[in-house]
Amino acid sequence: MKADRNRQKLALQGGLKAVGAMEGKGKPKIGAEEFLSVAARFGLSKKSLSQIRKIVAKEEWGVGPYFANYYSDLKETMVQAYEREARKLFGTKFAIGVSSGTGALHCAFVAAGVGPGKEVICSAIGFFATAAAVVISKGVPVFCDVDESLHMDPAKIEALITDRTVAIAVTHVMGGVANMPAIMAIARKHKLMVIEDCAQSCAASIKGRYAGTYGDIGCFSISAYKIVGGGEGGLIIMNDQRLWDRAQGMAEGGGLWRPDRFGPPRYEGELFCGTNYRMSELEAAVDVVQIRKSTAVVKRFNAVKQRVCGRLKTYREITPQKSNDVNGEVGYMLRFFPETIELGERIVTALRAEGVNCGMRGKNAPPDWHVYHDMMPLKSKAGATTPDCSFYCRQYTERGGKVRFDRGTCPVADDLFDRVITVGLNQWMSARDCQNMALGINKVLSAYCAEDQKGAAWC
Ligand SMILES: Cc1ncc(COP(=O)(O)O)c(C=O)c1O
Repeated sequence: MKADRNRQKLALQGGLKAVGAMEGKGKPKIGAEEFLSVAARFGLSKKSLSQIRKIVAKEEWGVGPYFANYYSDLKETMVQAYEREARKLFGTKFAIGVSSGTGALHCAFVAAGVGPGKEVICSAIGFFATAAAVVISKGVPVFCDVDESLHMDPAKIEALITDRTVAIAVTHVMGGVANMPAIMAIARKHKLMVIEDCAQSCAASIKGRYAGTYGDIGCFSISAYKIVGGGEGGLIIMNDQRLWDRAQGMAEGGGLWRPDRFGPPRYEGELFCGTNYRMSELEAAVDVVQIRKSTAVVKRFNAVKQRVCGRLKTYREITPQKSNDVNGEVGYMLRFFPETIELGERIVTALRAEGVNCGMRGKNAPPDWHVYHDMMPLKSKAGATTPDCSFYCRQYTERGGKVRFDRGTCPVADDLFDRVITVGLNQWMSARDCQNMALGINKVLSAYCAEDQKGAAWC
């Protein structure tokens, strides 16, 4: 009776608490099954999985671990470790781990002030994601032609600068590097921001300095398709605190990352409506290791390319792709231009017969979103909503903006992209593999072209 009365009495007045320790026993949200699911997705054998199951059955899983950057009792989350490794590698003050390269570019363009009525000069050859990120930032991409390096031609930039231009977005293409010193000189002269898209050339360098550290912001895709990356991830690097604030604001819900996360702005313009490009802990756990390996990967690729190139003969009808830094580029592709597409077709067929993995786009090729005039959503000026702000808003049209994306706008890119022969290289090729590949290329080129001792060197 007394116990009953005590239960009825308010705890505040000395009664028993209504809710004491819970009896229900829960299971961790993320535990052995999830862990094994990851292992299964990775393709571990049934035998390995059952061995792991036995081991993890003895693990104390607690409540977590969650695969999110927040709510972790770790001293340093995997995402933070990944960002620390990136800062160390590139020597920048700031690094932000994000969920994709496209997300990185979107954050970078917003940080750089791209918006309605503003133009960004982009590389004619690269990938659609760069220009698309300009458009989703409400800006307009304007394509700059390339030179024989297949990178943005610094000599063509100034003619494209208008009073609407706010930034240059340079893409380092397929393991190569752009001529950053020349591009930076133009950008600084015209007070333009520079965003480097290093998705295809992570940890490459130009004159001893990493691609991504010349401009104001460096963006990377750290995805499975790139030379470093495990699944889907991205990275943004920069030195400027304000740019970091803005990029971080865009990547994390406008300001969720701040010490006073739901508080008012600490300075004018600090807070705006951002999105969520947060990186998962699961991805970061892989990429923190991947990024540490990046310099060794580049070194291996570069050595392979130089080993093959060093053995190649020169020919009158063949122009090797120009390199903006033979020693700093990744070089996972060997590229050259035959005089004509017809000659290129014969060379590709013969090279394949020799066992050399290669390709050329040629005439009447299907669209490829790595070249500006094939980027369908841009050609149709399509945004996710209509009428789309980027191309049809007053801020743009009333200031004279009328961009075009038709073939013919960048004639050098049009020509070279169709006729470039690309030979795939592998970082694990041995000295003999390189020798055999060079032998195959020399054999085929000698059959179809005239040797020219004075021709441009391959590397
Ligand atoms: C040059 C370039 N920029 C951006 C991206 C987009 O990266 P993600 O696929 O991680 O969004 C890619 C991906 O292929 C790329 O090649």
